[in-house]
Amino acid sequence: MAHKAVGIDIGGTGIKGAIVDVSTGKLLSDRVKLPTPEGGEPQDIVDTVGKVITKLGGLKKKEPIGVCFPAVVVKGTTLSAANVSKNWIGLDAAKLFQRSFDADIRFVNDADAAGYAETLFGAAEKRKGLVIMTTLGTGIGTALIYNGVLIPNAELGHLELDGVDYETKAAYSAKERENLSWTDWAARLQKYYGALEKYFHPDLFIVGGGVSKEYEDFLPLLKLSVPIVPATLRNNAGILGAAALAAGR
Ligand code: BGC
Repeated sequence: MAHKAVGIDIGGTGIKGAIVDVSTGKLLSDRVKLPTPEGGEPQDIVDTVGKVITKLGGLKKKEPIGVCFPAVVVKGTTLSAANVSKNWIGLDAAKLFQRSFDADIRFVNDADAAGYAETLFGAAEKRKGLVIMTTLGTGIGTALIYNGVLIPNAELGHLELDGVDYETKAAYSAKERENLSWTDWAARLQKYYGALEKYFHPDLFIVGGGVSKEYEDFLPLLKLSVPIVPATLRNNAGILGAAALAAGR
């Protein structure tokens, strides 16, 4: 296992990166962030990742790169694309990055990376059983981790409830778009987490995404039998998880 890896977190608005000590989960560099290029085209994003890596001091020999991305990723191929160009759908993204950077590349879903990081270094450290990570942002990202093993590409944000893809109702973007109060938004979250509880019977829910720092305003309003806690790694979770997975942790 490599001890150091570069972690890159690609989002709809920003591309973040840092060098990570994957044994401790500590950042070994500053966190660099550049805006996601307009349109989110694959080659433009690769070029921006290159600029992030240059700002991090360039690649060291044998340092793997973990990249997390808002899409289903199977064997390095992106099968969907949320808030980026549709040209990612069906693209062998790992190969595209491999061609541009002389390093081993691991390409993973953003929520999977964040959830895996929380089980290694954060809110679910040393937790046994089934942990469900959820990220409440533009969409809802989810990750399933059982006894520390990631079960990739769970897309539970798209659970259909009341006849609609419930991400459109319960993501943080829905709260903002519809100007919902914490109480009204929490009622939707109650329905969402209630369904996850009913179908999966997890041991722990983790709530990530930018809004998780305001957890005191909405988590106490939820009545669930499964404990629900805020993520602790915040903005670094994707970077840490992508780096850890790239290094083979
Ligand atoms: C996508 C997921 C992604 C999540 C968070 C959802 O819309 O389907 O793949 O993890 O947004 O970015």
